[in-house]
Formats: sequence, C-alpha cells, structure tokens
Amino acid sequence: MADHWIENHKRDSWRKQAKASGYRARSAFKLKQIQSRFELMRQGDVILDVGCHPGGWAQVAVEEVGSSGLVIGIDLEPCQPVDGALLMVGDITDPMTQERIVTELKRRKVNSVVSDISPDITGKWNIDQAVAMTLVAKVFDFALPLLCNGGSFVTKLFQGVGVEELINAVKPHFSTVRRYSPEASRNSSSEVYLICRNYIPWKTETGSVLVDYETEVNKILGGDEIDDDVVATKTKFTVRRKKNSSEE
Ligand SMILES: C[S@@+](CC[C@H](N)C(=O)[O-])C[C@H]1O[C@@H](n2cnc3c(N)ncnc32)[C@H](O)[C@@H]1O
Repeated sequence: MADHWIENHKRDSWRKQAKASGYRARSAFKLKQIQSRFELMRQGDVILDVGCHPGGWAQVAVEEVGSSGLVIGIDLEPCQPVDGALLMVGDITDPMTQERIVTELKRRKVNSVVSDISPDITGKWNIDQAVAMTLVAKVFDFALPLLCNGGSFVTKLFQGVGVEELINAVKPHFSTVRRYSPEASRNSSSEVYLICRNYIPWKTETGSVLVDYETEVNKILGGDEIDDDVVATKTKFTVRRKKNSSEE
C-alpha cells in the first residue's frame, strides 16, 4: 500500500512538473533524462519519434535539434501540432505508413530513432509483454536501414521473457547497447529503456532483428517443432485410478 502511494505521488509530481514546463506528458522528462545522460540528439539532427502521441517526446526532440533539424513523429492517435515537428497518424508496422515516412525524409538519413511505443494492453501480462517485444523488433527492422552510420536508437522495453533475446538480436548492429532507467520512469518497475549507440550498418545472417529474436525466443520456450532425435524411454510410472463409490 505504502509503495503504491509513493508510486502515485512520484507520478503526480512528474505530471505537475510537465504541466509547469509546458510539456504535454510527464514522459517528456524520460527523454530529457536520457538525453542529458547520453547526448544522443544534436542541433540539425533528423529524429524519428515512434509512438509520439500526445507529443511530449516530440517537444523535447524539437528543442534539441533546433530549426535546422527535422522531427518526424508517428502514432496511431492524432496529436495536437508541435511547432517544428511533422506528426503523422498511422501504424508503424503498416507498409503504407512506412512509405510515407520514407517520403517525408526526402533521402535524409535519421540520426536517432526514439521509440516510446507501447501497444494496447489486454491486462494479461504475458501476452501484453510478448506483443510489445514483437512490436519493438518490427520497429527495429523498419527503422535500422534509415539510420545513418553512427546513429542511435532508444526504445522502451517491458521487463520479462525475451528481453535478453531481443538485446542479443540488436547488439550486432551497434557498438554499445545498454539498459537505462530514467528517474522519471523508476516508478514503473516493468519499464526500461534500451539505449543503442553508434549504429554499424552490418548485416547479421538473417538481416532481421525480428527473425533473430523469434529464433532465440523459440529456443527458450521450446517452440512448436518436434525434435527428430527424441528416443522413447520405458518407464515404470503408472496411473492408478482411485475407486469411487459408484465403482464399488
Ligand atoms: C507511451 S505512449 C507515447 C508517449 C510519447 N512518447 C509522449 O511523450 O508523448 C505510446 C504510444 O504508442 C502508440 N502506438 C502503439 N502501437 C503503435 C503502432 N503500431 N504504430 C504507431 N504507434 C503506436 C500508442 O498509440 C501510444 O500513443
């Protein structure tokens, strides 16, 4: 109960600070804290903000890249305009949305992808977490080829099955990949950010984060394949049914 109270109190405090500073969402402070720790965005940069509604991260990104930069945001939900950002409505996994983003980039490479994407939740933790991980892997597959050499990628993850496997699938593409929990998100124990720095456009065997991630996850979960080399063994184990009164 006390923990719950502290969590709510902290959340309210970030919300109040966001309101006082003119940010649309308390999540703006998460990106601000990531930025002050890792300095991923610079003046003149091109930023792709994935899952941008209501626009808190876009506000922070515009401050960092200035008028010479470009901030493109995408979300299923429409956002109120943010001065200096182009915020679009669409599903990032939809090829038509992806094409619109590529068109808006006008051949410019992206310096940083900042993704706070989280799918609708069903309330069933295992399912929600698995859906979120797959979505993140799909965002990597779409956005990695858009990144410039040395670019960075920040994404929210929810702790649970598959996090290590996703990190392993992403690692070959960057010099450093690490988890970071900004102060503003510490009240949410399940949420963590993956900070990937210095993109190296190098192909893994499959070339797909999603495929590499799913292959590794299937190994730990057993997958749905049947091993060819399973040998049947004899067992003395038998099931003895308890007699019930109708059988007596
Ligand atoms: C936590 S919110 C982002 C908050 C945002 N960073 C801010 O500071 O205002 C996560 C967003 O991800 C979006 N989202 C979920 N699935 C998506 C998808 N397939 N394509 C685009 N956006 C998606 C949701 O609509 C939601 O608005």
